[in-house]
Amino acid sequence: MSSIGENGADFLVVANRLPVDLERLPDGTQRWKHSPGGLVSALEPFLRVHSGAWVGWPGVADADVEAFEEDGLQLHPVSLSSAEVTDYYEGFSNGTLWPLYHDVVERPAFHRRWWNTYVRVNQRFADVTAKVAAHGATVWVQDYQLQLVPAMLRELRPDLRIGFFLHIPFPPVELFMQLPWRTEIIRGLLGADLVGFHRPGGAQNFLWLARRLVGLEPSRGAVGVRTRPGVVQVGDRTVRVGAFPISIDSSALDALARSKEVQARARQIREDLGNPKKVLLGVDRLDYTKGIDVRLRALNELLEDGRVAPEDVVMVQLATPSRERVEHYKQMRGDIERMVGRLNGEFSRVGRPVLHYLHQSVDRKELTAFMLAADVMVVTPVRDGMNLVCKEYVASRHDLGGALVLSEFAGAAAELTSAFLVNPHDLDGVKKALEDALALDPAEGRRRMRALRRQVLTHDVDRWARSFLEALGAQTAV
Ligand code: ADP
Ligand code: G6P
Repeated sequence: MSSIGENGADFLVVANRLPVDLERLPDGTQRWKHSPGGLVSALEPFLRVHSGAWVGWPGVADADVEAFEEDGLQLHPVSLSSAEVTDYYEGFSNGTLWPLYHDVVERPAFHRRWWNTYVRVNQRFADVTAKVAAHGATVWVQDYQLQLVPAMLRELRPDLRIGFFLHIPFPPVELFMQLPWRTEIIRGLLGADLVGFHRPGGAQNFLWLARRLVGLEPSRGAVGVRTRPGVVQVGDRTVRVGAFPISIDSSALDALARSKEVQARARQIREDLGNPKKVLLGVDRLDYTKGIDVRLRALNELLEDGRVAPEDVVMVQLATPSRERVEHYKQMRGDIERMVGRLNGEFSRVGRPVLHYLHQSVDRKELTAFMLAADVMVVTPVRDGMNLVCKEYVASRHDLGGALVLSEFAGAAAELTSAFLVNPHDLDGVKKALEDALALDPAEGRRRMRALRRQVLTHDVDRWARSFLEALGAQTAV
């Protein structure tokens, strides 16, 4: 898409994290590893093909790393001190904004020191970006950690075309209004030429807040999906506000799942699990929004009720370690691990645990093999902006096998209507959906999976990025 010459990059992504994390090993050496989360999973394949530049934090405190090139991608590290990691990343981003934007599932904390650090760190991201962007470049700012960057960057570099995309839900206005710095956040986002959300509801909420908090006169028409963006005039600039549901590199996953190696590994996984009649699978960052407790409770009750026989099922829960120093996460990990212990204590036999829990990240091939091996994929977040795991499962099932149980409160539920949709707060409903998915008639399963695949294979991450960048009016050919 762009060339990166002496005059800077023409196309830049700015995100809290780089697509790779610096890992410091006990022997004092360091190496780069793949960063966690859906933002990187979605954007990295797109950026690699279009060779842009990426501005972000290397994932550890006090890392003084020069800009470098990795596989055609220019990486520009932004350094954070350990106090900034505490106050900006763990504090304001993940102790205030994350719970506030996810329906206050946990109580957000409002601390002025966290906010002040958030402002300072956002300014640093804007400063670094201003230095490395070419004249007239397109800059695409990502997610809740950097909501002030659009306005800060515009102040420094009015020549840039600036887009912003929020990867998590934008909350109902009643919840957003709790934030002491609500007006600053809305003003920060209004620095962009295009502000994007997953769902029209998020765009609509943002437009309402622009009127209420900043006194602007936004358009009143309903925002569509990828169409009919809202419009708001900010001085002499027109800001567009739209809905762009994110997706995955569907055809790459489809191809990976068709490979002999992954298929053989999937068979091996089932064998290693003792060739049970049914395999259930959960794959998440270990986050309290993901409803891992919901599915464990449902499985526990189904086993207790005798509706599912312990000799027939094995569940695998893969949980990537996440935000481990944040209090809500510490507590939740303890709760989940106690539930895992209890479930296995009650229903396992020697050499045959009913639940395999791995607090680990696995590589893409291995993950795809797990998805191919699973009869039922269980995705039960209490709130999720989109959720890519469920789309990855669908893209992996070229055999039209498997069943998807999916929370109504994931953004993906609006697209994946042939899944077994559940309200994660209704435990009886979740149990019934699991039971139905476990007993699914194969022809009905194929019908559902075909419909799901039609959606996921035609709406991939490339289409998402193109639709956003076209609406932004990016000059670069995408
Ligand atoms: P979030 O962005 O909140 O983490 P998503 O479902 O949108 O949630 O994206 C999660 C991404 O992380 C997906 O690409 C998924 O495959 C990946 N992932 C989640 N858990 C694991 C794991 N244990 N090992 C490897 N990848 C994982
Ligand atoms: C979600 C967020 C991303 C974040 C990712 C991983 O996908 O939307 O912005 O990068 O989770 O979380 P972490 O805190 O480890 O970056």
